[in-house]
Amino acid sequence: MKKLLVMTAILATSACTVAKNDPLAFKAEGQTQELTLLDGRVVRYTAYLNIPYVSNPEDPNFQVLNYFVPEGATSRSAILLRTYVGGYMAASAKTPSATDATGRALVEGLCVCIPASRGNNSEVDGRFTGKAPRGLLDLKAAIRYLRHNDKRMPGSAERIITDGTSAGGAMSALLGATANHPDYEPLLKAMGAARARDDVFASVCYCPITDLDHADMAYEWLYLHQRPDTEASRPMARQFDEYINSLHLRNPKTGESLTADNYMDYLKSWLLASAQRFTDEGGVIDDSLGFQRYLYFPQTPGHRPGGPRLIRAKARESETLSDVDMDNYLHYVASRQALKERPAFDRLDSPECSLFGDAEGNPAHFTGDGLSDELRQRVRMMNPMPYISDPRATTAPHWYIRHGAIDRDTSFPIPVNLATKLMNEGRDVNFALPWNRRHEGDYNLDDLFRWLHSIL
Ligand code: DHB
Repeated sequence: MKKLLVMTAILATSACTVAKNDPLAFKAEGQTQELTLLDGRVVRYTAYLNIPYVSNPEDPNFQVLNYFVPEGATSRSAILLRTYVGGYMAASAKTPSATDATGRALVEGLCVCIPASRGNNSEVDGRFTGKAPRGLLDLKAAIRYLRHNDKRMPGSAERIITDGTSAGGAMSALLGATANHPDYEPLLKAMGAARARDDVFASVCYCPITDLDHADMAYEWLYLHQRPDTEASRPMARQFDEYINSLHLRNPKTGESLTADNYMDYLKSWLLASAQRFTDEGGVIDDSLGFQRYLYFPQTPGHRPGGPRLIRAKARESETLSDVDMDNYLHYVASRQALKERPAFDRLDSPECSLFGDAEGNPAHFTGDGLSDELRQRVRMMNPMPYISDPRATTAPHWYIRHGAIDRDTSFPIPVNLATKLMNEGRDVNFALPWNRRHEGDYNLDDLFRWLHSIL
């Protein structure tokens, strides 16, 4: 018995020493706060603010995280890690909001982590310190911090769900796709990130602006006939044909190989699913958008038994959307918000060229021939696509991906390819192009949290 007590004392002392010598040991003081959601639900939680998540920070104001623990949370509670990255810029560590997934998560009993991270505008002493892949490394370091401290903090680092919108959606996708890959290891080590895994349980991506090195070609391919100078877009559009063939994707429903020849039909199937859902919920889609409808008649006298008849009609609950004229539909998208000019991304005034720029603040082109090896590698590290099939990465098992059906910030093939590749690799993917949604995120939280509870 005495021996056991001595052993316990030694172990306790050494745990203390480890924590004392460990600059990344969680030891923050919390403060109690309260949030009221729009529906009147109230949650009390403890806020731990401005916790440094690397031991060798370059930008101490932005390499910190906030952590929020709702009343009743346990060591098993899931953690929503919400990044507010937008425009690939620096993001600060915010507090939970009543109007997005953070407030909702607290009410539903999840812990919430909101890390700050550097971005294309981060500047310290006249040097730009947040160029790619720095912001991503910061977010990975925040995840490593949570795992390093998993025993010391409420919430389970094995149940982290990342969430972001637009450039933040891309970050969420990268966190989900590239975890633990050796490409990032030396950079994380140099920053003083905790030595821990950085894989996550689920990745929630709203309108991810991703696959940046193929986003221009995909954009011209999709919007070719919406361009006033179609011929000028054609060479770029042709590059997408090659790209789609090189991805060797398969239609997850039929197993059929996806190629430049059938890809538009595949895209249509996602749009039709979106329009169908809207119609089934009672929505009415104007004929000018180019959808064809089947109305199914029951077996009534005078009709061919069971025979569907193709007619054009106002929306009805029983109707099935069978086809869409893509030129019509894309014209509608472009009428809601002017398309980006060509090229949509690799232009020197874009957030993306700034992202791949240098420490002096010069932007850099990131596609085409003649990129340095160093830049090519940075572009690669900012693209989830190649990592999804790389066995050295730990790709998240669960994904929730949304891209609005009238969002033209990037083209539909970008999120569709991301979702399809993940499905092809056997991941659990909940994907949709929600009807009439623009470039936005954290919407339809009922749907998101229903899904979350189904996987947790
Ligand atoms: C964002 C939007 C863009 O159109 C883009 O090219 C990059 C980022 C954004 O909202 O984060």
